[in-house]
Amino acid sequence: MQTIKPHGGKLINREETGAEREELVSRAKAMPRIELNAREVSDLEMITIGTFSPLEGFMGHDDYENVCQHMHLKSGLPWTIPITLSTSKEQADSYREGQEIALYQDTNHLLAVLTLTEKYTYDKEKEAQSVYRTTDNAHPGVAALYQQGEVLLAGTVQVVNHPLNVSFPSYRLTPTQTRAAFAEKKWRRIVAFQTRNPVHRAHEYIQKCAMETVDGLLLHPLVGETKSDDIPADVRMRCYEVLLENYYPKAHTLLSVLPAAMRYAGPREAIFHAIMRKNYGCTHFIVGRDHAGVGNYYGTYDAHYIFDEFDPIALAITPMFFDHSFFCKRCGAMASAKTCPHTSADHVFLSGTKVRDMLQRGEIPPVEFTRPEVAQILIDSMK
Ligand code: ADX
Repeated sequence: MQTIKPHGGKLINREETGAEREELVSRAKAMPRIELNAREVSDLEMITIGTFSPLEGFMGHDDYENVCQHMHLKSGLPWTIPITLSTSKEQADSYREGQEIALYQDTNHLLAVLTLTEKYTYDKEKEAQSVYRTTDNAHPGVAALYQQGEVLLAGTVQVVNHPLNVSFPSYRLTPTQTRAAFAEKKWRRIVAFQTRNPVHRAHEYIQKCAMETVDGLLLHPLVGETKSDDIPADVRMRCYEVLLENYYPKAHTLLSVLPAAMRYAGPREAIFHAIMRKNYGCTHFIVGRDHAGVGNYYGTYDAHYIFDEFDPIALAITPMFFDHSFFCKRCGAMASAKTCPHTSADHVFLSGTKVRDMLQRGEIPPVEFTRPEVAQILIDSMK
């Protein structure tokens, strides 16, 4: 069965095994060490299992500049978010190119060895402006960038251990595993749905519209770092489970998690999200209103328009665009401005704040907005 090729043609796997792994583990004891933060641990895992194919390590200067300025790797492949490892100037001064550096999670869990090919300084404000379209520190992606060290370290990684304390191990399928699952189900056309929220009726509507034209849905919530006021991933997972159990056909749905960190980079992140899902073997990707947005930094459909800037053949995964969706009382159905002729007076609209207030009072929002089983989980989580 023909499947979609990984980005760059080959699924990357940076995991060492057997004697080579043993030898690296023992050599690592004498290497200088860096303790990774949560985002870097997650990026390393994404490199290791091929979610970030074709990357084999942290980006060098040419790739970094090309990605920031032109949204492509220096090889010409589309790529929109820099994947970098930062450190302080003092620490960087103590390393020389060609040297091996041990990468740790916390103080004593060895994860990988980085072969340092390059160290370089960078302009954080310039990166913020090009990647996030703002230099405002109130933007969570920009704030994370401003926290980074002053020097970036580049090089390939050889991974010797999995990260500790990973969440949702039974749902943490690698790109190799989702590809195998799709083949077993004989799905050829697979649509991926990115989310960092509990699935409400508008999400369900756009997923099901997409499902009408493909073989299966990969419900692929992001469970890496999110901002503190997003709903925690464990609560969300319970919502997804109850929703799938009650309202989705098992033969056409797969739930698995994306352990990547959320950047909130809006349009650029939509491209990045699509590329990752291509690596998981998906052929289609849903992009709705204000995809991966935060605050008022991006226009409602900027994440649609950005796809026009890429060669569809190089991206290969097909975006499925959806307008803002809602329940219309006169239509008696979910709809969008593309399918509903009525005015907003007929539409069920609840602001995020209003929904939170209702849930906090233990009230179930209207069924046109959320499934009661999902609302009940959210209410219980707030007690
Ligand atoms: S995101 O940061 O992961 O994009 P969220 O989980 O809210 O946030 O959205 C998941 C997907 O659903 C995104 O593609 C988003 O654009 C889309 N979406 C969210 N709400 C709506 C809506 N009311 N109408 C259409 N698309 C929506």
